[in-house]
Amino acid sequence: MQKIAINSGGEMNEIYRSALVVTDENVNRIYGGMLPQNKCVIGAGEANKTLLSVEKIAAAMIKCGVKRSDRITAFGGGMIGDVAGFAASVYMRGIEWSFVPTTLLAMADSCVGGKTAVNVGLVKNAIGSFSLPDVFIETKYLNTLPRREYESGMGEIVKMSLLDPLLYEFMQGKFNAETAIKHCVRLKSAIVEKDMYDHGARKALNLGHTVGHAVEVLSGMPHGTSVLVGLRLELLMLRDYIPHNFFYELQAYINKYLPELRYNFDAEAVAVIAMSDKKNVDGISIMYPVSIGEIREAALDRRTFIRLLREAM
Ligand SMILES: NC(=O)c1ccc[n+]([C@@H]2O[C@H](COP(=O)([O-])OP(=O)(O)OC[C@H]3O[C@@H](n4cnc5c(N)ncnc54)[C@H](O)[C@@H]3O)[C@@H](O)[C@H]2O)c1
Repeated sequence: MQKIAINSGGEMNEIYRSALVVTDENVNRIYGGMLPQNKCVIGAGEANKTLLSVEKIAAAMIKCGVKRSDRITAFGGGMIGDVAGFAASVYMRGIEWSFVPTTLLAMADSCVGGKTAVNVGLVKNAIGSFSLPDVFIETKYLNTLPRREYESGMGEIVKMSLLDPLLYEFMQGKFNAETAIKHCVRLKSAIVEKDMYDHGARKALNLGHTVGHAVEVLSGMPHGTSVLVGLRLELLMLRDYIPHNFFYELQAYINKYLPELRYNFDAEAVAVIAMSDKKNVDGISIMYPVSIGEIREAALDRRTFIRLLREAM
């Protein structure tokens, strides 16, 4: 079971007992002064979620004399968690790591479940591993998060709420980040416990991601916002499979977080990216809800995918 502490105040102890802290340049600009000397700062943003960054982190580990029995800490958003976690999972064939998430998305979602990855070309998360970090969530770090990144975190929370009646009900009332994060951590941990290696239950978390990953690559929008755009388009594409009233309820719900209604992506390009998705077995896989908490999978051939996506936009 993954160790996840929320607002325990223990993150600095963890950081100072680590052999290396990995962060990005933006986070370092704000919080670098309180981090130890033994840190590796990589460029910020999705463009740096690459093998090149892994090499840079590995070189820093070697320079700091990180041993097999040591641990490192990722201090940053989901990008830093994915890339530093991957580096830890392969350095000397795997060392332990901790994660102090500093974005809403990383606190509510990516810190749970141990998926690590880097992108290769246009393929998101093409290379990765499963490696569970100990997690120290401190919501005070949200105070410096830019609005655009906060909204991105809300995208993954909205997606997650379709998996859980309790979270969905909470989302209909007054929002509070700490409570939302607690719901998401509880929910995702339970799903991951059933299906650590993504063969069954965990697939439900991919709601919005088939189209969302392509939207992220093609538009450069933040991850969680792209997932929400992906979710809206996927619901429209599969509306015939979704109970009528529920479909309209979800449209109204998503509208509250995503005012933009019309999109103009190149459907063929979306299909090319969607076809490289790891989830695919027979055709392009899309997860869709039929009620809150009840998620199904559709597999579309390329032509049908493109036609439905064009209609949805
Ligand atoms: N491993 C998983 O299970 C999982 C799940 C969901 C998403 N992800 C991945 O997570 C990534 C997205 O994560 P993200 O949205 O956190 O993006 P991110 O890590 O790129 O952070 C977004 C931006 O916010 C800045 N930032 C981070 N913390 C800050 C703070 N406290 N104050 C000010 N600025 C801050 C960063 O420098 C960056 O510019 C994607 O690569 C996605 O694929 C992984």
